[in-house]
Amino acid sequence: MRKIEKVINLAKRRGFIFPSAEIYGGLAATYDYGPLGVELKNNIKREWWKAMTSQRDIVGLDSAILTPEIVWQASGHLENFTDPLVDCQKCKQRFRADHLEEESGKSIRDIACPNCGGELGEPRSFNLLMKTELGVIADQKQEAYLRGETCQGIYLNFLNVMESMRLKPPFGIAQVGKAFRNEITTKNFIFRMREFEQMEMQYFLPEAGAKLAFGQWKEQRLQWYLDLGIQADHLRFFEHPADKRAHYAKAAEDIEYKFDFSDDNDGFKEMEGVHNRGDWDLTRHQEYSKQKLTVKNEQNEDYLPHIIETSAGADRVTLAFLLEAYEEIEGGRTTTTESAKEVEIVLRLDRRLAPIKIAILPLSKKPELQKIADPLFQSLASKYRVQYDETGSIGKRYRRQDEIGTPYCVTIDFDSLEDKKVTVRDRDTMLQERVGLDQLQTYFGEKF
Ligand code: GAP
Repeated sequence: MRKIEKVINLAKRRGFIFPSAEIYGGLAATYDYGPLGVELKNNIKREWWKAMTSQRDIVGLDSAILTPEIVWQASGHLENFTDPLVDCQKCKQRFRADHLEEESGKSIRDIACPNCGGELGEPRSFNLLMKTELGVIADQKQEAYLRGETCQGIYLNFLNVMESMRLKPPFGIAQVGKAFRNEITTKNFIFRMREFEQMEMQYFLPEAGAKLAFGQWKEQRLQWYLDLGIQADHLRFFEHPADKRAHYAKAAEDIEYKFDFSDDNDGFKEMEGVHNRGDWDLTRHQEYSKQKLTVKNEQNEDYLPHIIETSAGADRVTLAFLLEAYEEIEGGRTTTTESAKEVEIVLRLDRRLAPIKIAILPLSKKPELQKIADPLFQSLASKYRVQYDETGSIGKRYRRQDEIGTPYCVTIDFDSLEDKKVTVRDRDTMLQERVGLDQLQTYFGEKF
């Protein structure tokens, strides 16, 4: 079994990610984040937001999902945001022609339907944008689009942000939010969804600085993944050749992660794109909106800033961190517990990303231990996401926390009644230390 399948199992079993509308048979390429998944994804988004908006020249934005059609005409998406689609003539299933070609190394004309072996039709272009209708009166409904990328809302607010915040290029605008695409291929779990989340930053600057900034942003984004615990050899850049770039891109490089869905491309797939979009977007929005979007340079001349974009999928990044953290230990890490010889799972998530930071584990359900455990829970829960677990053997409870990535377990035993100390166990080293109850806030303050 591939690691990805094990992670998908764990994600469902332990409340990270569920198929959406599952009791009705599900809805293809949509997923829901469970109690632990939402914490993990929020922590990832928070780390990204901090990394971006703590920089002096980057500010945040939260723009609307619903957008008028003209935005997507201007952006070029109505014309160009298409995937090549083929239908099987026999079973009617649909496929991405380019994916079939990549997987088989053959031309689409020489490929049979992977589902039934039937003949495939002619490839045709399929637009990925999702349309909806606004308004209450049937014959006066206005067509709108669910945004296909979050950055368009940033371009539409470029002037608002610049003027209200008294900024001048170079500066950046960061946004996290949902995007929608009518994807044809819907396999690979949360890797390719029809409703997903993006973490995008658009950096506006004069053309002269764009090439340098592109290189700097590439390195900065790679470093973000390394700092949060992704191994260097699981990451790499992929440079898009000129004929494969998106319509808006002058230069494009992906940060790829070794998701390992298959052996293709050594298991690497796109996780984030860094793009030099030139002045494409502002030129087009200026033309379509008939509003001046220019800025004055040092010589008091008007110019349109160029844009360097970093665009990460929050879901793909979540999946990458889960895969990276997942470790199975045959026979278990300890031989002294009843769970010895079982396969043990440890999720070695960075502390900043772990959904639960601390577990409180009273050795028994006896009221005298609860008298310590309850107020301890209250005091730690005001600062950290804490879980309380009093059922099962202590070994089993440690295993449960290890497989969801909880960095610390706090055990309250009968000695705690005497010495007012508890045992803190570290997820990774399994080392245990006795810490005074009155020292715990300081202890965890230093850890997190
Ligand atoms: N604004 C530029 C843009 O949207 P993109 O390469 O189309 O560029 C950026 O998408 C990132 O969004 C991708 O690297 C990926 O992480 C994420 N993404 C794109 N389509 C996705 C999908 N269907 N499901 C999940 N994530 C997706």
